[in-house]
Amino acid sequence: MEKNPEKMEKIVSLAKRRGFVFQGSEIYGGFVGTYDYGPYGVELANNIRAQWWKTMVQEERNIVGLDSAIFTHPKVWEASGHVSGFSDPLVECKECNTRSRADHLIEDAGAFADEKMSIEEINTVFDGLREKIVCPKCGQKKFGEVKRFNLLVQSNLGNFSGDWTKEPTYLRGETCQGIYINFKNVLDSSRVKVPFGIAQIGKAFRNEIAPRQYIFRLRELTQMEMQMFVKPEDEMVVYEAWRKKRWQYYLDLGFKEENLKWHEHENLVFYAKAAWDIEYNFPFGFKELEGVHARGNYDLTQHQTFSGKDLSYLDPVTNERYVPHVVETSVGLDRTFLAVMTEFYDEDELGGETRTVLRFPKALAPIKVAVFPLLKNKPELVAKAEEVYTMLAKVMRAEFDDNGNIGKRYRRQDEIGTPACVTIDFETLGQDAPELTDTVTVRDRDTGAQTRVLISELVNYLMQA
Ligand code: GAP
Repeated sequence: MEKNPEKMEKIVSLAKRRGFVFQGSEIYGGFVGTYDYGPYGVELANNIRAQWWKTMVQEERNIVGLDSAIFTHPKVWEASGHVSGFSDPLVECKECNTRSRADHLIEDAGAFADEKMSIEEINTVFDGLREKIVCPKCGQKKFGEVKRFNLLVQSNLGNFSGDWTKEPTYLRGETCQGIYINFKNVLDSSRVKVPFGIAQIGKAFRNEIAPRQYIFRLRELTQMEMQMFVKPEDEMVVYEAWRKKRWQYYLDLGFKEENLKWHEHENLVFYAKAAWDIEYNFPFGFKELEGVHARGNYDLTQHQTFSGKDLSYLDPVTNERYVPHVVETSVGLDRTFLAVMTEFYDEDELGGETRTVLRFPKALAPIKVAVFPLLKNKPELVAKAEEVYTMLAKVMRAEFDDNGNIGKRYRRQDEIGTPACVTIDFETLGQDAPELTDTVTVRDRDTGAQTRVLISELVNYLMQA
C-alpha cells in the first residue's frame, strides 16, 4: 500500500485556497467531522451527483429516483437494526480521555480487525496488542476496555417533553431506509415491475467516534444509494452484474484501473449473502469508496414486521407472491469527491513553467470554460469578451477573468481544472488580420495547444472538444 501524505497535503491546501472545501464552522475553530463545499466545490459535487444520477437513473430503464425525508418515524431505525446494532468499537485512553476506534488502532498496529467483529473478538485482539498500541493524542498505552458505541445521531424533533433522550428521533444513518419504507409507494404509483431499482442521493448522519482523513470519514455525509428489488432466486446474478457495472463506472469516469481494488468483507452481517467494497487508492492508501451488497429480504421483512404493512410483491405473470430481495450499491459523494481530486491532481511543466493542474473530465469540471479579454484596459476587447461570456454562460458554467496577465489566468484555470480558456484579442476585432474577424483562441488545459475558432462555432466546438 503506497501512501502519499505529501499529495494529501497538497490537495487539502489547494482545495482550501481555491474554494473547493472549507473546514466546517471554521471561524469558530472548526466543528469535527463536518466540512463545507465552497464555490468550486459545490460545482464539482453537483457534477458528481449528476454523473451518478445519469448512470444510475437516466440510463437505466428500470430504476427510478426518490428523495425521502431525513427524519423518519423512530421505528424505522428499530426495524432496520440500527438502534440496537449500528455501532463501532470505542476505546478510551485513561490518560487523556481521547476516544478512538479500536479497530483502527488495531489496524494501525498492523493486525486485522473490522467494525463488524464481535466485542469479545475485538477485545481479545486488542488485549494481545496492548504493548504496541499507543494513544494517537498523548502517546500513552493506558486504554480501558473496548466498548460498543452507537452511531445514530439523536434529536428532539417533535418531542416537547423536556427529556427527549428517552424517546429520541433519529437523523438517518443511511439513505436506503427511506427507499425501503417507500417500496410499496413507488410500486403502486409508477409502472415498475420486479426487477426494478430505486435510487436516492441525500444526507446521512453518523456519530463517528474519530472522524479523520479529511472528507473521507464525516459525521455529516452525502450518500448515493441504489436498491434493486429482485426475485429471490435472481439475487446473486443481479448482484454480479452490478459489481461489474459499478467497476466500469469508475473506469468511464477516467479513473486508472490500477487505483481501484475489490475487497471482500470477512464478517458479513447475518442476513447478507455477499458484500464487496470497491477500494480506491487514496493518498493514505487503499480504502473503501463504495459498497456493493446482496442484502437478502431482511430490510423489507423487518419493515413489514414493524409496520404491520404487507410489503410483498405479487408477480403479475406467475402469480407468485414473495418479499423481494435487495441488491444495493452505496457510495459516499464526499468520498467520490476526494477520490476525484486525488485521481485528477497533477503537476507538470508547460512552456518552461511548473504548474498544478486538475485534469478533470469535462463532465466533472466545475467551470467548463473561462473567457478572457486579452487586455483589461481596452474597452472594445472587454465588451466583446463580455458578449462571448454571456453567450457561453447560457449553455455551460463559464467564468469571466480579466485580471493579471494571460499566463497567470491560464494557471488559475488549470488549478481548478477548467478544460478550455477562450481569449478575445485584436484579431477577434478584425484589427490585425481581417480574415480572423470574429474568431477567438481556445487554449486546451492538458496540452496548452491553441486553436482559432469562429465565435459562431464556439459552443459546438467546446461541447465536442
Ligand atoms: N446502506 C449501506 C451503507 O450505508 P456503508 O458501508 O455504511 O453502507 C456506504 O456506507 C458508503 O457510504 C461507503 O462506502 C462510503 O462511501 C460512505 N460512507 C460511509 N460512512 C461514511 C462517513 N462517515 N463519511 C463519509 N462517507 C461515508
